[in-house]
Amino acid sequence: MAARPVTLITGASAGLGVEFARLCSARGDELVLVARRRERLDALARELGKAHVFAADLAAPGAAAALIGEVEAAGLQVETLINNAGFGLAGRFDEQPPERQTAMIDLDMRVLTELCRLVLPGMVANRRGFVLNVASTAAFQPGPYMAVYYASKSYVLSLTEATHEELKDSGVHVTALCPGPTATEFFEVAGDPNGKLAKLAVPARAVAEAGLAGLARNRAIVIPGRTNKLTAQASRFLPRATMRRIVARLKS
Ligand SMILES: NC(=O)c1ccc[n+]([C@@H]2O[C@H](COP(=O)([O-])OP(=O)(O)OC[C@H]3O[C@@H](n4cnc5c(N)ncnc54)[C@H](OP(=O)(O)O)[C@@H]3O)[C@@H](O)[C@H]2O)c1
Repeated sequence: MAARPVTLITGASAGLGVEFARLCSARGDELVLVARRRERLDALARELGKAHVFAADLAAPGAAAALIGEVEAAGLQVETLINNAGFGLAGRFDEQPPERQTAMIDLDMRVLTELCRLVLPGMVANRRGFVLNVASTAAFQPGPYMAVYYASKSYVLSLTEATHEELKDSGVHVTALCPGPTATEFFEVAGDPNGKLAKLAVPARAVAEAGLAGLARNRAIVIPGRTNKLTAQASRFLPRATMRRIVARLKS
């Protein structure tokens, strides 16, 4: 029996991931919901129907391969991957807990890369597939007092643009979504719930909608919101020293 196409969403227990799940469910997708907090995923699956729950710590070694193995063993094939799980960490680089920095590098870069590598060959073989990698407007400049996070999102943007170009004639869509501050659990998890950026946060729903619309059109990069588009462009015109000082001021 042919495998059933599914939309796999990482980080589906909160924030943008929940909105991606609701939007994809509304258009009729069968979902695979992934995050650590199983009870939240179960509640979302009950709300949406046609959803499978895979509770996993994706940053654990081998977790991405194990996840895709389980999905395939269940007779499902990932047709859409929403690589959304990620977290940030505020603070001075030399003062942050090293194990949190490593976990961030693992989740935000390694796991995202592994999942792309695991699902893209099947998509290319089918000449159909959709990969949405969630980067950030943080990708466009260095981020003093969130240095590792900004660097990791630069990686996500660069990887996504490159694979978009490589696969542009393959039938597979690859898009980087670069949100600005968004109302989710992100700032709380990052340890900066009352900072200047958190106060600018916009609702997650519109951000997820923009990402899915851009993915459908195979845009390389989607930056939701006019202000975010402008700030992303600013890094092309302002000196790098000015950009990094502006970001430092927003964080202190
Ligand atoms: N909010 C913003 O301002 C903003 C701006 C730009 C980009 N982004 C990006 O948007 C994406 C989604 O973040 P969000 O804003 O929606 O934040 P969020 O509300 O904190 O959601 C993060 C999700 O990632 C999951 N996650 C974290 N660690 C995990 C792990 N080890 N294994 C599996 N899942 C894990 C969390 O679930 P569990 O805790 O249940 O595992 C949660 O579902 C991230 O990549 C973030 O960098 C956010």
